[in-house]
Amino acid sequence: MVMSNIDNIDKNKIPQHVAIIMDGNGRWAKSRNKIRLAGHQEGAKSVKSAIEVCGELGIKYLTVYAFSTENWNRPQSEVSGLMNLLVSSIDKEFEEINKLGVRIRVIGQTDKLPKSVQKKLSFAIENTKYNTALNFVIALSYSGRWDIINAVKTLADDCRKGTVNPDDIDDELFENYLATAGIPDPELLIRTSGEERLSNFLLYQLAYSELYFTNVLWPDFSKEVFYDALINYQKRERRFGKTSEQLT
Ligand code: IPE
Ligand code: IPE
Ligand code: MG
Repeated sequence: MVMSNIDNIDKNKIPQHVAIIMDGNGRWAKSRNKIRLAGHQEGAKSVKSAIEVCGELGIKYLTVYAFSTENWNRPQSEVSGLMNLLVSSIDKEFEEINKLGVRIRVIGQTDKLPKSVQKKLSFAIENTKYNTALNFVIALSYSGRWDIINAVKTLADDCRKGTVNPDDIDDELFENYLATAGIPDPELLIRTSGEERLSNFLLYQLAYSELYFTNVLWPDFSKEVFYDALINYQKRERRFGKTSEQLT
């Protein structure tokens, strides 16, 4: 019998929000003598596994880094391939995802995306907005610094208009200006492919997240890899600046 690690997960210590930097599609393809886009296509399947795990365990928010601001600098053919893949993945998976009660959301500079992608995303967002099982947040044309600067700009504007008093600015108020307004901070960040950096992902929101790095390449990500990350997370002591003794 094949053993699954799902039984080793403490169901009372499930994080509310998991964020994932899905990395390693290119290397996966290269090691198989395939074009990079083949890696991205295979990676799209892993996204589905991750969504399913969230459903099984009751994780309420899953945020995936699908395309960074910096990724616009990749070869034009790869960028357009990724954009097309996004549209075809929504076409292919929308019905099933909707049935699972998944609410699709997007964070990032979406106005920079091709119009066809914007249209498809609007459709997916609008038609899943009453779903409550899982918030699936796709970070697209996203960067953490953009998010913070954009929030500061809007907040400065509200101060100028007089709707916000600068003396009232604290983290609770500031969070409302971020792209993730209303979404709790991730307790756990997973990055695949062995890279150990944030690559401009949720810089503000990850302030106190537990970080989990695995050498598994994103197309090879499976439910069991996700379970392992959760088990590892559950073994950690989240102290938030306090001493270990203060927590008991
Ligand atoms: C992650 O895989 C997908 C995106 C960044 C869009 P990569 O394409 O970065 O894969 P590697 O890092 O080249 O292996
Ligand atoms: C980060 O991966 C962005 C996404 C996963 C979408 P990259 O592959 O672009 O990051 P770097 O360039 O290695 O830091
Ligand atoms: Mg990469």
